[in-house]
Amino acid sequence: MSALTAIHETEGLDRYLDEIEQRLLEAVRRHPGLAATVGEEALAAGGKRLRPLLVFLAAPPEREPPWAVGVSVELVHMATLVHDDLIDRAGYRRGHASAWARFGPEAARAAGDYLFARAFAELAATGDERAVAVLASACLSLARGEALQRAQTHDPETSVESYLERCALKTGKLFEAACVLGAGERATPALARFGLALGIAFQIADDILDCTGETIDTGKIAGTDLREGTPTLPLLLAAREDPVVHRALAGGSLDGALVRVAATGALDRARAVALEYAERARRCLNGELHSDELEALTYAVVERRT
Ligand code: IPE
Ligand code: IPE
Ligand code: MG
Ligand code: MG
Repeated sequence: MSALTAIHETEGLDRYLDEIEQRLLEAVRRHPGLAATVGEEALAAGGKRLRPLLVFLAAPPEREPPWAVGVSVELVHMATLVHDDLIDRAGYRRGHASAWARFGPEAARAAGDYLFARAFAELAATGDERAVAVLASACLSLARGEALQRAQTHDPETSVESYLERCALKTGKLFEAACVLGAGERATPALARFGLALGIAFQIADDILDCTGETIDTGKIAGTDLREGTPTLPLLLAAREDPVVHRALAGGSLDGALVRVAATGALDRARAVALEYAERARRCLNGELHSDELEALTYAVVERRT
C-alpha cells in the first residue's frame, strides 16, 4: 500500500475532502461567467488536493474541520496553476488542455485572478483576520517565487541556494500556510517549518518528474522546464557536468539534452536533496496528533509519480 493510500484511511479525512470538493465547486460557481467556467474546468480535472489534506491533518480533531481554510488554500493553488501554465507555456494540466490552451491567455489570466479573489472572499467570510494575513503572505511569496524564476530563466549558473529559495517561495510557503491555517491557534513554529520543508521536497520531486515523468501519471508534459530554460535542480546540476545540457538550459538546442541529464546522475543527486528536505520536515514533527500521517507524507511527496 502506498503511503498516500495509508494516509487516506485517516478517520474523517475522506469525508472532509468530499465536502471540500463540494464547497470548492460552490465557491468557483459563485459568480457565473467565463472566469467561473474556466475555473470549473480546472476543478473538474481533479488534482491531488494535497493542500486541503495538509489542512485537515494539521487541524485539532475535536473542532469543526476548517472548511473555509481548506477551500481557500486549494483555490489559491488552482489560481497559481492557471497563471503558471500561462507563464510556462504549458499546454497540458491534470491530463487535459490547460486553461490558456483551451480558453486563451486573457481568459486564463482572468480566471486565475478570479480564483485568487474567491479564495480570499471565502477566508474573509470567517472573520479571521489573522488567517487572511497568513494567506496573503503566502500569495506574496508565490508571486516573488515566480518573479525569481523569471530572473533565473536561461541561467545555468543559478546557484542551488537561489533555486531552493525559489522553491521555498513558490511552493513551500503555501504548504506552510496550509499547516499553519489548519492548526489555527495551535500552530507552532515547528509545524510551519515542517510545511515549508515538505513543500520544498515536493517541488524538487516535481522538478525531477519534469525530466522523467509520464504524462499518464503526472497529467503534464515532461521537458517543459528545459524547454522554458527554467533552471531546476536536476537541470542545473546536470548543466555543471554536460556542455549539451548547459547550452540547452542557456537557450540553445534541446536536441538530446534531456537524455543527457539522466546520464550525468543529476536526477539521483536532486533526489538526495529532496530526501534531505523530507528528513528535515520529519525532524520538525513532535507528537502532533496526526504525526504518523504527516510523517508518511514526507515519504509520499518524494516517492510520488503523480
Ligand atoms: C503542482 O502541484 C505545482 C507544484 C507546486 C509543483 P500539485 O502536484 O499539487 O498539483 P495538483 O493539484 O495535484 O494538480
Ligand atoms: C510550481 O512550479 C508552480 C507553482 C507553485 C505555481 P512548476 O512550474 O514546476 O509547476 P508545474 O510543473 O507546472 O506543475
Ligand atoms: Mg509550470
Ligand atoms: Mg514542474
